Amino acid sequence: MKYPPTAIASRFMTLERHIEEGKRLHPGATGEFSRLLHGLSLAAKLVWREVTKAGLVNILGATDRTNTSGDVVKKLDEFADETIYKAMDHVGHLCVMASEENEDLLHIPEQYPHGKYVLVYDPLDGSGNIDANVTIGSIFSIHKRITASGKGTLQDVLQPGCKQAAAGYVLYGSSMMFVYSTGQGVHGFTLDPTVGEFLCSHENIRIPQRGQIYSVNEGNFNRWEPAMQRYLQYLKQEDESTSRPYSARYIGSLVADVHRTLLYGGIYCYPGDRKNPNGKLRLMYENNPLAYIVEQAGGAASNGKQRILDIKPETLHQRTPLFIGSIEDVKLAEEFLSGKR
Ligand code: AHG
Ligand code: MN
Ligand code: MN
Repeated sequence: MKYPPTAIASRFMTLERHIEEGKRLHPGATGEFSRLLHGLSLAAKLVWREVTKAGLVNILGATDRTNTSGDVVKKLDEFADETIYKAMDHVGHLCVMASEENEDLLHIPEQYPHGKYVLVYDPLDGSGNIDANVTIGSIFSIHKRITASGKGTLQDVLQPGCKQAAAGYVLYGSSMMFVYSTGQGVHGFTLDPTVGEFLCSHENIRIPQRGQIYSVNEGNFNRWEPAMQRYLQYLKQEDESTSRPYSARYIGSLVADVHRTLLYGGIYCYPGDRKNPNGKLRLMYENNPLAYIVEQAGGAASNGKQRILDIKPETLHQRTPLFIGSIEDVKLAEEFLSGKR
């Protein structure tokens, strides 16, 4: 046979088929959830189309706005934000949305039906990298609503990450990938641009128990608390029996740094520091969905003291420190941060 059977099988496992087959594992599933994921994959393709021609049309660079977190909003941030909202507002299965780029909740237009799910998203993550053609992505989190019907409320959105019904991310890199979980493992699909379909390329991703890579913005070293500084110094010491020193890798796009961590193992850290005690990353749009994915792949995610998915959110744009990756690496980081080592 010319091709190995797995290569042929993966050609026919489209994202749509995978979602449909997953639905059969949930007796009584109505298909609403499948249509949501389908809507997200369409939105992602529309964003990708713009990202790939970013240097050719006038879409690079900044707008004159800053967002709730004080970041300068790039034109592609805005484009991605609107595209995802418009691809999802009429699907009929959402009651409310929230996006990193908008201070308040994003309501579903009155004329469209309201459903039982909530969508929270970071439309473009790593947007500081756009103009340099470095990998960026989109991150999403889906919850089931708490309120009974009608317009969704803040209560529907501010649920702890452990209650997520699904989460995922899209990578706009050397190829485009859609990685998602509905609580049955993590699965990755790569866009075949010749047919416009996402095809299964990474079935049931498992993160190594321990890695040899750390990923952190070390430029903030002098602002970190001593325990964090000691942890980093430990990772850089030479000791063959514990595979040290670790290698340093930092793209500066969280979604790409976490994707690499998922595949190769190790740890990604965004600790609190003197200037930003809760770090930079946002619980709802970044930490919760990525924590869900990494846990589903057998890894862990912590704010240094507590499991990310157990944090009860208080506000839409709240930040928390993030330590995410291989289970043993995250445990070690927690030991340093709590002073046990
Ligand atoms: P966003 O582009 O959605 O605002 O997120 C930026 C985040 C994240 O992608 C990245 O890992 C982090 O900011 C980088 O921060 P530093 O520049 O402080 O390292
Ligand atoms: Mn982000
Ligand atoms: Mn963003």
